[in-house]
Amino acid sequence: MKQLAINGGKKACSHQWPDWPIWGDEERKGLNEVLESGKWWYGQKVGQFERAFADFQGANFGVTACNGTVALEVALTALGIGAGDEVIVPPFTFVATASAVMRVGAVPVFADILPENLCIDPADVERKITDKTKAVMPVHLGGHVADMDVLNDIVAKHGIVVIEDACHSWGSRWKGKGTGAIGSCGAFSFQASKNISSAEGGIILTDDEALAGRCRSYTNCGRTEGRPWYEHHRLGSNLRLTEFQAAILLAQLTRLEAQTLKRQANAAILDEALKGVPGITVLTNDSRMTRRSYHFYTFRIKSDELCVGRERFIEALVAEGVPASSGYPIPLYKNPFFGNLDEEPAARPFAGSVNYDEVCCPVCEAVCADAVWLPQAFLLADEQAIRDASAAIKKVCENIGELR
Ligand SMILES: Cc1ncc(COP(=O)(O)O)c(C=O)c1O
Repeated sequence: MKQLAINGGKKACSHQWPDWPIWGDEERKGLNEVLESGKWWYGQKVGQFERAFADFQGANFGVTACNGTVALEVALTALGIGAGDEVIVPPFTFVATASAVMRVGAVPVFADILPENLCIDPADVERKITDKTKAVMPVHLGGHVADMDVLNDIVAKHGIVVIEDACHSWGSRWKGKGTGAIGSCGAFSFQASKNISSAEGGIILTDDEALAGRCRSYTNCGRTEGRPWYEHHRLGSNLRLTEFQAAILLAQLTRLEAQTLKRQANAAILDEALKGVPGITVLTNDSRMTRRSYHFYTFRIKSDELCVGRERFIEALVAEGVPASSGYPIPLYKNPFFGNLDEEPAARPFAGSVNYDEVCCPVCEAVCADAVWLPQAFLLADEQAIRDASAAIKKVCENIGELR
């Protein structure tokens, strides 16, 4: 008799998984306050949110921007990085990590990731450093904090900087310190899928007041605080957040701590349940990472052992009622524009000087083929639902022969 739901067996979970975004009277009240105040920009809320979020992460300064992508671009620009420079990035991430580097004229150089946590491998970073390297940009993938101790040591040795792509790590901590200002600065995203969201939005955090001032200027048309309105000191742009977005973010922030703890507790249940299940590799949480935001929960499947590919495995999980997906399907450097630099006008300055066809990061290539993602909102379900989802994953592994 068939067991798996994909073959007509009984579905393991029939739960209604939490929707995202979660919102309520706090957002409604904040939005109304902005609406009725008539102060839709340059009001109080943006500044309040910058202070509140910087405090939440334990950073001295916060400068909002209209999304995480431009927050990265502003951080790079404010650190003086541009044409002729190289920035080391991981290839297992959203395109913005590398495209932000290229948008400021610098060259992204890919270093592989670690199989334990899918964050950048510091040993490969060292191998990729040249006299053109100006920064390392680790991604705290899915809220997993990259090894900031080793990365900070490497950059100190070479006189360069760490810019954290913290776009998945609201609430993550490394030895008690929030991500974002563990390196020189860090950028966060508040895009629609993120654990705290205003549909679009971003922020740069730093402990460096002068750097924060430059970021502010670049996001505000190159203005300098205290100087006349139509005096522009830098080649900036208009990258500001609105008061409406800040009102939503202030409301979302009131729930972030409790939601983060819940995601962490549910992830621990999954870790425990999946450890030792044949065909599955559970990732490792470094003990120096004292809190993890869990933008998603990831595990890897051993396709060779299971004799089933990842896509088929996911189809079976979805049929059991588990909202699984495959995440980043290819390393960034295999995206079409990296192979066609001379045909893409915005990328033409890079044509001839770099050849991404030759790049190979073997760990990333394997992970792109075998990782399974469960989204952050799923991790807000009640404990029983998470236990049922764990049972569903085990069920698929135990009946894997039905998928071959
Ligand atoms: C790792 C990472 N970096 C940067 C970004 C860019 O953020 P945004 O979408 O707010 O521009 C994202 C967004 O998905 C991301 O996941």
